[in-house]
Amino acid sequence: MSTEGSRTTTIMPLSSPLAGCTRVPGDKSISHRAVLFSAMAEGTSHLEGVLDSADVRASIEAVRSLGATVDLSEQPDGSLAGSVTGWGSHGPQQPEGPIDCHNSGTTARLLMGVLAPWPITVELTGDRSLQKRPMRRITAPLMKMGARFEPAGKETLPITETGCAALRAITYDAPMASAQLKTAVLLAGVYAEGTTTLNEPAPSRNHTELMLPEYGVPTTASARVASVTGPVVMYGSDIDVPGDASSAAFLVCAALLKEGSELTIEHVSLNAARIGFVRTLERMGAEVAVAYESSEGKEPIGSITVKSTAHLHGCEVPAQHIASIVDEIPVLSLVAAHARGLTVFRGVEELRVKETNRLAAVVEGLDRLGIDTWVEGDDLYIEGDPDLEVPADLVFDSQGDHRLAMTWALVGLTGEHSVEVADFGCVAVSYPGFLKDVEGLVR
Ligand code: S3P
Repeated sequence: MSTEGSRTTTIMPLSSPLAGCTRVPGDKSISHRAVLFSAMAEGTSHLEGVLDSADVRASIEAVRSLGATVDLSEQPDGSLAGSVTGWGSHGPQQPEGPIDCHNSGTTARLLMGVLAPWPITVELTGDRSLQKRPMRRITAPLMKMGARFEPAGKETLPITETGCAALRAITYDAPMASAQLKTAVLLAGVYAEGTTTLNEPAPSRNHTELMLPEYGVPTTASARVASVTGPVVMYGSDIDVPGDASSAAFLVCAALLKEGSELTIEHVSLNAARIGFVRTLERMGAEVAVAYESSEGKEPIGSITVKSTAHLHGCEVPAQHIASIVDEIPVLSLVAAHARGLTVFRGVEELRVKETNRLAAVVEGLDRLGIDTWVEGDDLYIEGDPDLEVPADLVFDSQGDHRLAMTWALVGLTGEHSVEVADFGCVAVSYPGFLKDVEGLVR
């Protein structure tokens, strides 16, 4: 189904529809949190279903360099499982050199909160993409709590942090809905004296609020407010990471676009803050449904079933819902390109500061398909075409962005012609086995 040239990967059309029942690798957001929270905790945590990807490995290496003992090994299903023994009340050790967060914004931003209460000095850095991403949104509230950053007020990595043993609790009005910002502040708040509260303009994913109590930290959370009261000692926990809804979204959209497909993805996180893409697809007329099974540490888990749907139509997604689809907008935009009429995603400015400028990349990619796509202010407009005939010989540049690589791969997989995707290997950031999993579902 794919061949790799020196710089591009050829993605061939699927020979048959996708069918059957499958699982996707562990949730990336929950995996990062399981590794980081276990490293912060007193005692040993037991983790299962942890995503084995470049991003999560960045978090694992980071906490190792800070003194946590990580004994996670590869399992037959491709996940990581085992134990993590944290530094607990001793605090992290001074690492020997800078911590390289590679491509992982979650590692860098959450670590800033993890390090805030400890009197060590740590330089955080990352790859070229991560060194362009905004960090002031995290350092600003942490500075109010007492952490110090060098150079002070610098927007991008590398940045050196020195923690503060006597952190102040704060109430902070976040300028954007960002779970990374919320989590960094709450993690620092675990050690601050008093109640730290984070108000958000719209609800972002709430894995931190759901998982901290598993480590002995009570949280209070409602739609746009989360708080912790510190100081609290964190204790090790047992976490079974469910499948990643954001990875599932690529299989769901592939099945939707490939005629005759019918697919079920089981044991996946059905957290409402993560399955906004299912709600958006429903509104576009897609035959997609979720079934709840259980909740692991209060994370709702279940299955998503989808059938290829011929008559999709455009829809408007208000800004309040963008945080729940923030990682899925590129692939939803591709679905919108195949739908009748206009789709509008309101208030998508955060897309400009992801692993790449995903807003510009979506406009450019859909333009290659011959789809009229434009941005007005912070809104993305896509004039879909249900009779879209994808041109032959398309070459897409993933720009090293995993979610763009998988989005453009779907053009080749579900269409009539193969496509070339440059730097397709970056899918290793979140879903290393993506193509193999798709191949395994061809019936
Ligand atoms: C994440 C939050 C989101 C998301 C990212 C993972 C997390 O980022 O895009 O892939 O694990 O908290 P923002 O918090 O910047 O929106």
